[in-house]
Amino acid sequence: MHEGKTIKNSPFELTGKTALITGAAGLLGLEHAKALLSVGATVILTDVSGVALESACALLGDEFQPERVLSFVMDVTRPESIEAVAKQTSLRGLRVDVLVNNAAIDPKVSGDQGVLETSRLENFPLQQWDLQIAVGLTGAFLCSQVFGTAMARDGKGGVILNIASDLSVFSPDQRIYRKPGLSDDMQPVKPVTYSVIKAGLVGMTKYLATYWADKGVRANALSPGGVFNGQGDEFVRRLSNLIPLGRMARRDEYHAALQFLCSDASSYMNGQNVVMDGGRSAW
Ligand SMILES: NC(=O)c1ccc[n+]([C@@H]2O[C@H](COP(=O)([O-])OP(=O)(O)OC[C@H]3O[C@@H](n4cnc5c(N)ncnc54)[C@H](O)[C@@H]3O)[C@@H](O)[C@H]2O)c1
Repeated sequence: MHEGKTIKNSPFELTGKTALITGAAGLLGLEHAKALLSVGATVILTDVSGVALESACALLGDEFQPERVLSFVMDVTRPESIEAVAKQTSLRGLRVDVLVNNAAIDPKVSGDQGVLETSRLENFPLQQWDLQIAVGLTGAFLCSQVFGTAMARDGKGGVILNIASDLSVFSPDQRIYRKPGLSDDMQPVKPVTYSVIKAGLVGMTKYLATYWADKGVRANALSPGGVFNGQGDEFVRRLSNLIPLGRMARRDEYHAALQFLCSDASSYMNGQNVVMDGGRSAW
């Protein structure tokens, strides 16, 4: 069982600290949890999906001390849901020292929508715009409001980490999503919401970084590049061609960044957007 002992007395150590992750039952949320658990943190996994949370908890409880793995169903779009988790957390004697705003709705770009390609800007439904922004951007604001306020109030400070994307610093290259045999107006695209949310998160990061700096609350963003998760060969080839390292990220390649940004190892980093994209933005 992993107790996080390897990093004792290191600035990366989070023993005695509690980190809350939103959207924690998804692909990267689970990896963020592993990263923080392995440097000693107690981790509160939150997600809107109770079923996915259960299996995430079971998996992590096998690998780490189960008493350091807690979970709550929490919908980041609903203030009362966030408040309820904040209450449960303090009833258990825990203080959220680290908040990782990770939840998002990232509809897969598929191109099989039939008569109307709704990912395209011309057809993008207002309801999808509202929903995706509510989760990815408003959700991060609401969680920062609740947990950041608490961090600032008691004088002990804390860390807010917003998970953005390499698409926070450049526009999607829509050519990589193209499907053969479809006319231009039926080609699927990465939706406009993705760019708006991720750029918005970087703006919010800078705002938060200065807002509570005198209270010891730091805020940074991490902007990961695309993670390989069984995508089709053609897509992977096209995307890899845009990346100097010539490949997508492995799912565990952001662990060290999480450990750095959430611990005292980054004590003088505040308001930054750390882009880890295999060099894509350097081209
Ligand atoms: N996977 C990648 O390649 C990649 C690359 C760059 C950035 N990111 C970012 O990393 C983060 C995690 O991505 P992922 O690939 O793990 O996505 P994912 O879809 O696997 O996980 C997202 C999680 O958010 C949860 N969620 C959705 N709505 C919610 C709500 N209202 N309240 C709480 N939780 C909610 C989902 O249930 C899901 O478990 C996202 O912000 C994403 O944009 C991912």
